[in-house]
Amino acid sequence: MVKTPLPIAILISGSGSNLQALIDAERSGELGCDIAVVISDRSGVQGLDRAADAGLGVEVVDWSAFDSREAFSEAVCDAAQRYGARALVLAGFMRILTPNAITRFPNAIINVHPALLPSFPGARAVEGTLAYGVKLTGVTVHFVDEQVDHGPIISQEAIEVLPDDDADALHARIQEVEHRLLPEAVAAFARGNLVVDGRHVRLRHAQTEAKTG
Ligand code: GAR
Repeated sequence: MVKTPLPIAILISGSGSNLQALIDAERSGELGCDIAVVISDRSGVQGLDRAADAGLGVEVVDWSAFDSREAFSEAVCDAAQRYGARALVLAGFMRILTPNAITRFPNAIINVHPALLPSFPGARAVEGTLAYGVKLTGVTVHFVDEQVDHGPIISQEAIEVLPDDDADALHARIQEVEHRLLPEAVAAFARGNLVVDGRHVRLRHAQTEAKTG
């Protein structure tokens, strides 16, 4: 049985290199998703050009036009649902979604973070990593819950911090890993292969996929 691709909204704030990785995975049939819309919290970012180049639906929900985080978060969810999205993928989205979004997309919001959570949550994680002097950092892909950078972890990969790294050099190596880990996690989610049990996420047994897929 062939499964219908899962309609998703991808949320961005910037250059959209993770968005591009998701578009490429969708185009090659690996994502198991249909990118219903790309939503940006601001206009004029490169990610919007990437979305337009790929012929995707695009919405700008300008965060600065809202007087509360809740109202902004509702507007983002409204936009996603207008396009029929059933899950949200935060690909370099630098705004915090409030609990209303988790209620509207329960266990269906995935985020990529440029550090090994629970270390260095929040914005400027790469700079924080370098300032602290850790020798290992990495990438975390996780479900979003009510707390910032906190939900159940889907996947992580460690990356060595080199002695003469600056933020740009380290972030470039982190992004290489993000571009692989995020599409893999989204594909596993779309195929129903992620089982969430409290804080723990495990891959459903491959045999289940063979029976149903
Ligand atoms: C990515 O490295 C992502 O991990 C990070 O923003 C970058 C966006 O790059 N996200 C966060 O820091 C979220 N706390 P991109 O726009 O090229 O995908």
